[in-house]
Order: sequence, then structure tokens, then C-alpha cells
Amino acid sequence: MTLSHTAQVSSRSCLAIVLAAGEGTRMKSAKPKVLHQVASRSMLGHVMATLAQAGATSTAVVIGPDREDVAKEVQEISAQARIFVQKDRLGTAHAVLSAREALAQPADDVIIAFGDTPLILPETFTKLRAPLSEGAGVVAMGFEAKDPTGYGRFITSGTELLAIREHRDASEAERAITLCNGGLMAIRGDLALSLLDRVENKNAKGEYYLTDIVEIAHGLGHRTAIAVVLEEEVHGVNDRAQLAAAERMIQDRLRQAAMAAGVTLVAPETVFFSHDTRLGQDVLVEPHVVFGPGVLVEEGAVIHSFSHLEGARIASGAGVGPFARLRPGALIGPKAKVGNFVEIKNTDLGAGAKVSHLTYLGDATVGAEANIGAGTITCNYDGFGKYRTEIGEGAFIGSNSSLVAPITIGKGAFVGSGSVITDDIPDNALGLGRGRQTVKEGWAIEFREKAQAAKKK
Ligand code: UD1
Ligand code: MG
Repeated sequence: MTLSHTAQVSSRSCLAIVLAAGEGTRMKSAKPKVLHQVASRSMLGHVMATLAQAGATSTAVVIGPDREDVAKEVQEISAQARIFVQKDRLGTAHAVLSAREALAQPADDVIIAFGDTPLILPETFTKLRAPLSEGAGVVAMGFEAKDPTGYGRFITSGTELLAIREHRDASEAERAITLCNGGLMAIRGDLALSLLDRVENKNAKGEYYLTDIVEIAHGLGHRTAIAVVLEEEVHGVNDRAQLAAAERMIQDRLRQAAMAAGVTLVAPETVFFSHDTRLGQDVLVEPHVVFGPGVLVEEGAVIHSFSHLEGARIASGAGVGPFARLRPGALIGPKAKVGNFVEIKNTDLGAGAKVSHLTYLGDATVGAEANIGAGTITCNYDGFGKYRTEIGEGAFIGSNSSLVAPITIGKGAFVGSGSVITDDIPDNALGLGRGRQTVKEGWAIEFREKAQAAKKK
């Protein structure tokens, strides 16, 4: 892709039509196929985000009937996207034509994408559109298939694409062709409707094939071009094994991108990212860490093994884990330490604060340099409401304490270990909430004598 291509493409308006009406029967799922996730985002979400990055100026999504769940996802991703329902599933051209109203409005380029092909890259859409700006009528995306079975085959003459023959309709000789149709297409906007309206369903499946527009356009004297991509990018998901394969490929991309940006992954193949994970320079991630959505880790922080993070921000120089769980709203301050078997939710942990072992902090604010002892629990929930715990700067919470929220523990205050704290503690005070210890001298000797005597009887 040359720079001039990119510039030409970006000045043109572009309608993207995403086909998402497939039933996805092979997924054997109550959930529609395009809502299944890879890297913590629906496949449909990936495709729509990629189209937006590729410069689509408007988006139409074609969904199946009674799919409020898919419509809701579309709306959440983009409020501007238009939704069209394909009532009967009569083929890919029929699906595209469900968005007739969108096609009737002028756009320089139209691109067709599939909601179950999540690995496509923005630059590939740009590459697909480029020949349109040079006068082509239709551009199809081809790839060299390791196993072409099931794919449409490209019938070519030189660089011209004459037709796409679906596997079922192909002759023996045509089936030997390995340059296959990836499914995605770009069509000149002013031609799209007239080409699609000419498609018939005289084929083995009795469906209206989008692929037929190539032969139609060629017959009308329009140039039909090919854009070639790697097979990985047009990997379509039809079953759970292909979903897992898509996850592997996308994780691999995210790992490579993290390392290229200056993050150390000790064992990259064991670290799982969300599509939106952000990691600063010199972050170190030990083996076996899972990032859910919405995590930001700033420069030089260390995430130790077996930690699970979601919706959390970890400031520079902080350490998390091993075996830590950060849930949404966990804000870990600079140089703070979260140790093993600690769960933190909706809590602001101040700079340099330490929560080293076996603790639950929920709905809390912890001041800078505070020390939270092993086994501290914020009792934030009474079965109805959630309540906050405020812990001041430099406070020291003794081990095995329950802090019954709402509660405020002042700056520099101490909590005696094993306390159940139900009343606020002022700055620099000591709070104790436990039974007083009694000591009985010689009690053990007496006890043993009695017990031995009883045993002999
Ligand atoms: C399609 C191409 C084939 C290509 C292959 C690449 C056609 C006719 N064939 O075949 O050349 O090699 O993709 O994977 O286009 N859909 C609808 N409504 C319909 C039919 C399909 O929304 O009525 C959607 C599906 O959900 C899917 C996409 O369109 O996302 C492609 O349909 P699919 O049935 O998978 O086409 P293939 O047979 O794989
Ligand atoms: Mg398919």
C-alpha cells in the first residue's frame, strides 16, 4: 500500500455493510454466533471497530429476525450504525440487499464484511478499496487456501477476475484452483444496487450469491480486481474450534504488539489480553496472567503470576500478585503493593500502600502508605446496600480484622489485630474490638492430669 493509495481512499465516502444474519447452528449455542467473544469483545464488535478505523463513513448491519440481542450490541458499539433485518435467509446477495435503503444513498465505496470474520485488519479494508479509486467496479478479497474445500474459487484471466465459482457449483478443473474468495468485497457505490439487483439464484444452493456480482460487473464491461490477503485474516468462525483458533490468533497479535511496545512477557503464550488492554513501557508480566476488559498498567509495574485483572488501573511502579484478583474499579496507586490471595474491587489504594496477603477490599479508599494486615476484610455489603470504608494515610490495620462499613479509620490510626471495627476511629488513635484475653496459670497441667486419669479408668 502506497501513501498515495491511502490518501485517495480516505477522501472517498464509504458505506460498510456487515452481514450478521447467520444462524450459526454449528456453534450449538443459545447465543447468536456474532455475539461470541474473542479477546473480550464480540466478533461483531471487532469487525465494526475495524471498519470504523478503516474509515467507513456509515455502517449498516444486517441481522436475523427477532435478534434484539444483536441489535443491542450494534447500538452499544455505534449509535450511528443502521440496523436492517433479513427476514428469510436467501443468500449473501439477498442479505446485502436487505440494506437497500442504505445502498440507495450515495457513497463512493461500499464494502461488505462478515460479522463472523473477526481477524480482518483495517489496512486490509483500505487495500480492498484502493482499486475502486482507480476505476474498478468490484474488488474481491482473495487468499491462497491451504485447503480450498468449501470456498468460492477465483476464475481469473491475468489480473482480471472473471467470476467467483462457489465450491458446490465448480467443475473438477475449477476445484483445483487454490486462490479462493475470502468473502469480503468492495463495490463502487453508484453500481452496487444495479449489480445486486441482477443476481439470480440459479445455483446448487438456490441462493442469491453476492459472489455473482463479479461475473455480472465483468459482463457489463467494468473492471473487476483482486486484493490478496493472508488466510489468517479471513478466518471465519462457524464452530467452537474455529472460535478457539480465532482467539489464539488474536492473542498472538496482542502479545506481539505488547512486546513491540516495550513490555516484557516472560512466557507470552500463557498471558491472555483483552482487545483494549493498555500496558506502559517496561511493564513486566509474569507467566499465567489473564487481563479482562478495561485494564491499564502504567510504566514499570509488575504483574506476578496467576493474577486476574479486570477494569483496573495499576499505576507506575506498583506490584500485583502472585494470585491477586483485581475487579472493576480497582485503582492501585504508584508503588503500591497487592500481594497473594488479595481481592480488590471499587477501591482506591493510595501510593505506596501495602495489602500483602489474604485480604478483601471492596468499596474502599485507602490512603498513601497505609498497611493492611493479612486477613483484613471490608464488610461492605449487608445483603441490600453497599457501604464504603475510608482508611486514612499511614493507617495500620492489624491482621484478621473485619471493618464493618460504613466506617472511617483516621490518618495514622491503628486497628488491633483480630478486631471487628464498627465505630469510626479518629486520627492517630487505636481501635480495638475483640474479647479481652485471660490467662489461667497452670491450667494445662491440671487439665492433662484429669484427662489421663479418666483414660485409665
Ligand atoms: C461465502 C462466499 C464464498 C467464500 C466464503 C468465505 C458467497 C456466496 N460465498 O461462502 O465464496 O469463499 O464466504 O468464507 O458469498 N449471511 C447472511 N444471510 C444470508 C447468508 C449469509 O447474513 O442469507 C451471512 C453469514 O452469516 C456469514 C456471511 O453472510 O456471516 C457468509 O455466509 P456463509 O453462508 O458463511 O457463506 P459461505 O458459504 O461460507
Ligand atoms: Mg462461511
